[in-house]
Amino acid sequence: MTRYAGDDVIERVLLTQEVIAERVAELGHAIATDHAGHDLRLITVLRGSVIFLADLCRAVETPLTLDFMAVSSFAGGGGGSVRITKDLDDPIEGASVVLVEDIIDTGLTLNYVLSILRARKPASLSVCTLLDKDVRRIVDLPIEYRGFSVPDQFLVGYGLDLAGRLRNLPYVATVREDEVA
Ligand code: PRP
Repeated sequence: MTRYAGDDVIERVLLTQEVIAERVAELGHAIATDHAGHDLRLITVLRGSVIFLADLCRAVETPLTLDFMAVSSFAGGGGGSVRITKDLDDPIEGASVVLVEDIIDTGLTLNYVLSILRARKPASLSVCTLLDKDVRRIVDLPIEYRGFSVPDQFLVGYGLDLAGRLRNLPYVATVREDEVA
């Protein structure tokens, strides 16, 4: 395994690069099949999800466009309100939108984002998440495309960060307990 500076905080690799790549290819194929002939728009919420989006969009064998938004998030159990800090560049009315997330935890962030997007009248709106920490869910959400169900542990890599770092690890790993306490 290639060593990355700072990866000494890792406890164990949960999902290898190869396992992720295989699942991403399946998800991309499913999205392409379900949206053939539609005005497909992949939308993601910055920042960590861009890693997954970059691989996913190249696994979707049908025309599509990309757009990005950013929100202040509930992640980490802060309990504050979610708000948009960067909005989409283009309108989504009439488009077939797939919202791409790296991880869904409580579901509060996604619930808020979906309510905003739904009000803009897309032709369809579905969710694709690589990781689903479903044991933590507070708000029940429909998830059409799910990569992996993951345990309630602090995860890094493939977009997930520890204080902003380690997003560039090509795998998903758990972190040593003393590093996240
Ligand atoms: C993550 C993830 C979701 C959110 C999920 O983002 O990308 O947006 O947390 O958490 P929830 O289901 O409890 O609302 P994060 O806030 O870590 O931002 P980042 O992608 O910029 O690291």
